Amino acid sequence: MTQTTSKPIETVAIIGAGVIGSSWAALFLANGLTVAASDPAPGAEEHMRAFVEQAMADLRRLGYEGSGELTFAGDAREAVSKADFVQENGPEREEIKVELLAELDAAAPPHAIIASSTSALLRSKITVKCTTPERVIVGHPFNPPHLVPLVEIVGHSPDSDAVRRAEAFYQSVGRETVVLKKEAVGHLVNRINSAVWREAVSLFQQGLADPADIDRAITAGPGMRWPFLGPYEMYHLGGGEGGIAHYFEHLQPIQEERWKDMPTPQMDDAFRREIVASVQERFAGKSIAELAKRRDERLLALLGIRDKLKD
Ligand SMILES: NC(=O)c1ccc[n+]([C@@H]2O[C@H](COP(=O)([O-])OP(=O)(O)OC[C@H]3O[C@@H](n4cnc5c(N)ncnc54)[C@H](O)[C@@H]3O)[C@@H](O)[C@H]2O)c1
Repeated sequence: MTQTTSKPIETVAIIGAGVIGSSWAALFLANGLTVAASDPAPGAEEHMRAFVEQAMADLRRLGYEGSGELTFAGDAREAVSKADFVQENGPEREEIKVELLAELDAAAPPHAIIASSTSALLRSKITVKCTTPERVIVGHPFNPPHLVPLVEIVGHSPDSDAVRRAEAFYQSVGRETVVLKKEAVGHLVNRINSAVWREAVSLFQQGLADPADIDRAITAGPGMRWPFLGPYEMYHLGGGEGGIAHYFEHLQPIQEERWKDMPTPQMDDAFRREIVASVQERFAGKSIAELAKRRDERLLALLGIRDKLKD
């Protein structure tokens, strides 16, 4: 059984130091925690350290003042050996997660929580080889985790000890948590993301608009509301004085007509190439690093006003 403990979380292991692992590391370090990382890829440590330096500078602009110590271990077992909390960020492949989580479960101290960043895999499937699966949860962030506050948590049960401790931990490092009542492929928000992405792709396939205009329509339209208005509140307001009850009476029938008219796009090679060509032409001359920097600058500006918008 997993030990229930009040031992504070001081050391975090980051397993997999790619896009997500490096960003998590920056957040934990900026909160003054000790981070032990591991990643078998050549050059992973240098890449992570360079990312962390920039991300911590961004976090300092948000008021995070910690500067924990970052070490890079020879392998995952060594990285988790002294961890109070493990954040797993390896490749999104079920067979890899199954082996990796079993290895981490065998090597981490009994009190440690093990959280997987998996974007879509079911917790029940990726923990099949773990000896103490109750302490293994999904802690799914949004890219980049050091700036986007949401972490979705899926546990053995929503009120398990591991879920409660993980929730308190993520909140202590400035994250906003949502605990799922049960598991589903894609958890909560990636299912919503997938619905939006399916339609964005389908609209292009059906010839209604090009990708650049679809993106612009989102950012100039509903995206303006999304930092502070979710779909339920949005439709409550959409119903006017009568709120969501009136919305259902007035506009739900036409909503259902739209739901019936949303085919899943056919993702053959030719169509994929068409999307890639359109996106690459639009961003020609701009590297991913430049685009990520621009994204982060805008996220920092939004985060600056987000607190003022809170209820
Ligand atoms: N990229 C996103 O937008 C995003 C968002 C949220 C969650 N996630 C999830 O985070 C996880 C990592 O995704 P990413 O985008 O950082 O991928 P990535 O490819 O950038 O990083 C994965 C890293 O894992 C390393 N790795 C491979 N085998 C390993 C092992 N046995 N032990 C430790 N490390 C190993 C690789 O060398 C690589 O550096 C995935 O589960 C993904 O679904 C990704």
